[in-house]
Amino acid sequence: MSIRDVFLAIAVVSLAQTAQASEVFEKAKITAGEMLYRVECRRCHAPNSNDPSYGPPLENIIGRGAGTFPDYDYSEALAASGIVWTPAALRAWMEDNTGFLPGTKMRHVGIQDRTVQDFILTYLASLAPQSDK
Ligand code: HEC
Repeated sequence: MSIRDVFLAIAVVSLAQTAQASEVFEKAKITAGEMLYRVECRRCHAPNSNDPSYGPPLENIIGRGAGTFPDYDYSEALAASGIVWTPAALRAWMEDNTGFLPGTKMRHVGIQDRTVQDFILTYLASLAPQSDK
């Protein structure tokens, strides 16, 4: 399925005139976000901390302090940044992480499209913490 198909599916879903339309739409956003995450982020970020991952795991990322995942070897820039990962900070990071925080060791990601950012954020917000399993 291409990203275009995902947008088409979302458009169809959002046109549905049923009582559950908004609930279906939320689920569709999570699914679309997961697909986009797989393309843009997954090769470096496991969604849960039980899996090995080159970058820090992103479960529970919304509201987390930057550079605080236990035992991950962060860059000094990120560890000392004092950033809290609010949705706005995550948008800025997805849009231009190396501009947002010079010195980060995450390779530049440039996701300008707010809708794509939205979907990825919805997916990230849906990730339940796994580390207590
Ligand atoms: C090429 C590998 C790579 C890709 C692709 C990548 N990241 Fe990263 N990411 C990293 C690395 C490495 C770090 C650690 C950066 C540092 O320490 O400066 C990081 C750090 C982060 C952090 C900070 C986490 C924390 O614990 O403070 C967030 C949030 C993040 N990435 C989100 C994303 C999202 C969302 C995407 C997809 C849109 C993405 N990354 C794509 C490698 C990647």
